[in-house]
Amino acid sequence: MKILICENYEHLSEVASNIIEDKITANPKCVLGLATGGTPEGTYQRLIDKYKQGSLDFSSVTTFNLDEYYGLNGRHPQSYAKYMYDKLFKHINIDINNTNIPQGDVDDIKKECKRYEEAILEAGGIDLQLLGIGTNGHIGFNEPNAYLKTKTHLVKLKEETINANSRFFEKKEDVPTRAITMGIKSIFRAKEILLLASGPEKAPIIMELLKGQLSTYVPASILNLHPSVTIVVDKAFIEYLKKQNVELSAI
Ligand code: F6R
Repeated sequence: MKILICENYEHLSEVASNIIEDKITANPKCVLGLATGGTPEGTYQRLIDKYKQGSLDFSSVTTFNLDEYYGLNGRHPQSYAKYMYDKLFKHINIDINNTNIPQGDVDDIKKECKRYEEAILEAGGIDLQLLGIGTNGHIGFNEPNAYLKTKTHLVKLKEETINANSRFFEKKEDVPTRAITMGIKSIFRAKEILLLASGPEKAPIIMELLKGQLSTYVPASILNLHPSVTIVVDKAFIEYLKKQNVELSAI
């Protein structure tokens, strides 16, 4: 596991976009796993800038998003499909037919989860998976629990996730209580993983993850078993460690 420490959020976004750029340049037909939420917004903006400057071509790239709110149609303003379209896809030359997001408003949820899982496999698997992390350690929407599901599935969101994501909705009651998410194995099958965590509120869970202990109550801790993980944090993490009197090398 490699950890990169950046000055601030802007720097973190630059570093993350450079890693993604390198991946696309090395393999223009690569399959990217994408995340939503606040953290990757800066990264997506940098990727748009690179595309506009002519240094990036998305025409042969395929993407799979981690998750979608259950019950939301892809045109709903708070759906992750709309987020991806507004924050990245509409600004670049990606073929929209090569972008994949679980469909949140289906009748047959089991069928949709199976379809999504198979689509990832059919595309040859994910080359680089971008991840954020919940303050409770979730990746995708794999919430802390006594067990973790391996494949794409319907999940009940934890109260802390609903609270955290209520900032994107008019009121907390509008946040869907369930989501479709890739499972731990779907994420884990990615050849390379890039996890971004910015700000003081993410520092405690990053410290927990770096301890190298596995727990289903810290779903991200499973990443300790993956052969190729890069974690990009900003200075807030180092400041947190200082306050705890902990050296990074001692975790
Ligand atoms: C989003 C996702 C989540 C977020 C996490 C952090 O697709 O799967 O795991 O990455 O909740 O969200 P932010 O970046 O808003 O703090």
